[in-house]
Amino acid sequence: MERLFTAWKLKNLEIQNRICVPPMVCFGWSDESGMVVDRNVEHYRAMAKGGPGLIIQEATCVSENGRLSRDQLGIWSDAHVPGLKRIVEAVHGEGVPLLLQIHHAGVVSETEDPVCPSDYSLVFKGRERHGRELSVEEIQKIEGDFIEAARRAYEAGYDGVELHGCHNYLLCQFFNRRVNRRTDLYNAEDMQIVKNIIDGIRKVTPPEFVVGIRLGAFEPEISDGVAHAKKLEAMGIDFINVSYGFDKEAVREKPQGYPFAEAIYGAERIRAAVSVPVFAVYGIQDGETAEAVLKQTGADMVNIGRGVLVNYNWASDVKAGRDPGKCLYCKTCMWRSDPDQCAGKLLFNRKR
Ligand SMILES: Cc1cc2nc3c(=O)[nH]c(=O)nc-3n(C[C@H](O)[C@H](O)[C@H](O)COP(=O)(O)O)c2cc1C
Repeated sequence: MERLFTAWKLKNLEIQNRICVPPMVCFGWSDESGMVVDRNVEHYRAMAKGGPGLIIQEATCVSENGRLSRDQLGIWSDAHVPGLKRIVEAVHGEGVPLLLQIHHAGVVSETEDPVCPSDYSLVFKGRERHGRELSVEEIQKIEGDFIEAARRAYEAGYDGVELHGCHNYLLCQFFNRRVNRRTDLYNAEDMQIVKNIIDGIRKVTPPEFVVGIRLGAFEPEISDGVAHAKKLEAMGIDFINVSYGFDKEAVREKPQGYPFAEAIYGAERIRAAVSVPVFAVYGIQDGETAEAVLKQTGADMVNIGRGVLVNYNWASDVKAGRDPGKCLYCKTCMWRSDPDQCAGKLLFNRKR
C-alpha cells in the first residue's frame, strides 16, 4: 500500500492518504426543509474517525426546485448554514478536510416543473420525466444559485466544493450534446454554464477555497469526456473526480481485459490528458485493488463509497492489515433505504 497511504496536498489542503469518501446521499434522514439533522452529523463524524484522507459530503441542493428527492439536504438559503457548520466541525474535529458537493438535478428533479438545457424526455427510476428548455435568464439564475451555495459553503467552513457534473444531473445535461442541443451561448461544446459558475465562485471565496468537479467520462463518448476535462482545466478547476455521466446518452467503453470498471478507465484517460489532480471510482473494495487502481491510472485519489457505508473504518482497517468488509452489491442498495439492513454491514459486524 505504498501509494495509498502517501500524504499529498490538494491546493493548500494537507491530505493524509489517497482515500476519498465520495458523496453519498442519505435518503429519508432530513425532510422537506433540507436541514441537517443529528444523524447526519454523527454519520460524517464516524466516517472521519475511520481515517480517510478526504470526505466529499453528499449532493446538497442549490435550489428547492432542483432536488433529486424531497428529503435531500439543501443549501439554497442562509438558514441551512448553521446545520452544515455542525458537520464541518465534526469532520474537522477528526482532522479530515471536507468538501461539499453542490447539486441541481435538472430534468430528473422532484418538482412540478423540471428543466433541462433543451426539451428532453426519459424514463428515470421507473418514471417518465420531461424537462422543458431553460431560458437564458433561468440559466443565469441557476448559475447564481450555485455561486450562492458555494459562498454559504465557505461561510459554513467547508474547505471547498465539488460541482456535481455527472450521474444524470443538470450540469452533465449541459455537457452532453445528445441532451443539450442549444445553439446559443449555452451550447454543449462551450460549457459556458460551468465557466460562469467557477468564475462567480472565485469572486466570492478566497483563493485557497477548492473548487472541483465530478465529471462523466463518457459524455457521450470518452473523447468528449477528455475534451471536457481539458476545458475545465483551462477554466481553473482544482480537481476532476471522474465517474459516469448522463447514462441514457453515454457510450461506456474500456479495452478488452481491462481489470477495472469503465469509470476507472475514464479516469486513466483523463489523467493522461490534464495536469490537475484526478480521482477514480467504482467498485474498489480492498486495499490491493485501491493500490492497483492508483498505479494503473496514475490517479491522485481513489473513492471508496459503498465500502465505507459497510465499514466506517475502511481506511484505518486497510492500513492496519485488517479485513475492511465488503459491499455485497444488492440489486437495490439496502443501505439507501435502511443502513441497519445493509447486508454487507450485517455480515461484517457478525464476523467481527
Ligand atoms: C447510497 C448512495 C448514495 C449516493 N449519492 C451520491 C451523491 O450524492 N453524489 C454522487 O456524486 N454520487 C453518489 N453516489 C455514488 C457514489 O459516490 C459512488 O460513485 C458509487 O457508489 C460508486 O463507488 P463505490 O463502488 O466505491 O461505491 C451514491 C452512491 C450510493 C450507494
